[in-house]
Amino acid sequence: MFLGSQFDEKNVHNHVTKDTNEVTLNGVSHNGFTAPEINSFGHSFRAYDAESERQKGVEEFYRLQHINQTYDFVKKMRENYEKLNRAEMSIWECCELLNQVVDDSDPDLDEPQIQHLLQSTEAIRKDYPNEDWLHLTALIHDLGKILLLPQFGELPQWAVVGDTFPVGCAFDEANIHHKFFKENPDIKNPAYNTKDGIYTNGCGLENVMMSWGHDDYMYLVAKENGCTLPSAGLFIIRYHSFYPLHKEGAYSHLMNDEDRENLKWLHIFNKYDLYSKSKVLVDVEKVKPYYQSLIEKYFPAKLKW
Ligand SMILES: [Fe+2]
Ligand SMILES: [Fe+2]
Repeated sequence: MFLGSQFDEKNVHNHVTKDTNEVTLNGVSHNGFTAPEINSFGHSFRAYDAESERQKGVEEFYRLQHINQTYDFVKKMRENYEKLNRAEMSIWECCELLNQVVDDSDPDLDEPQIQHLLQSTEAIRKDYPNEDWLHLTALIHDLGKILLLPQFGELPQWAVVGDTFPVGCAFDEANIHHKFFKENPDIKNPAYNTKDGIYTNGCGLENVMMSWGHDDYMYLVAKENGCTLPSAGLFIIRYHSFYPLHKEGAYSHLMNDEDRENLKWLHIFNKYDLYSKSKVLVDVEKVKPYYQSLIEKYFPAKLKW
């Protein structure tokens, strides 16, 4: 069954920088990870022809996303999915479910999702051997993509993947294809179209409603099931597609001190999420016991989804 995420957040950022800035966090210097220059097909990562069909597809994707992700839509989705009444399964079972997804549109990736998850995760594990929470966070960060599956609502692509952004306040120009927001009804609502909108300066991202997608869904699942990952792990899960913030620095006026701390970890994570796609396959059965032990440490055996 093909359930590819046609416009994965990673695929539309041609402006990704191979940034060589060394990140230092808690005294750990992050320079151990070497990004491969060539992907499985022998091309440079994310090198698309701007005129390609794909680019048009990406534009159409963001047109639909920007028109339809309104404050009311997000509120309804949250209320609906908060019920967590669609399935009961373990984290590993969900990994296997997501494995049905082969991202056909990603030119860097022709392996099942579980390989992407494990490649990112194993690369982080090598460089940060003691941050076991980060290993598990990497493994589960995309599990919310099950929203594409019939049992989980079979949501359209624009409600599952792509960059995320706050609703309830003005759409920052740093958002990709910002022009398409002009057809979003919220742009005419005076309650929602100012810089702060319904929020206050420094209110903290946890009080901000984000556009609906796999990030916020997985965060909801983790939180409601009593996951004990540290706040930075939950932050990565919830905001890894929030490119306007972590790539462009937009919406920083909504952050509080905790967000700023957590953002450092998100920057580290993001580097691995983008560059750990390669032909070197991870032996799933070999690494499974380690990840099972982390799942047991931070999650209940069965979760409601
Ligand atoms: Fe993602
Ligand atoms: Fe990812």
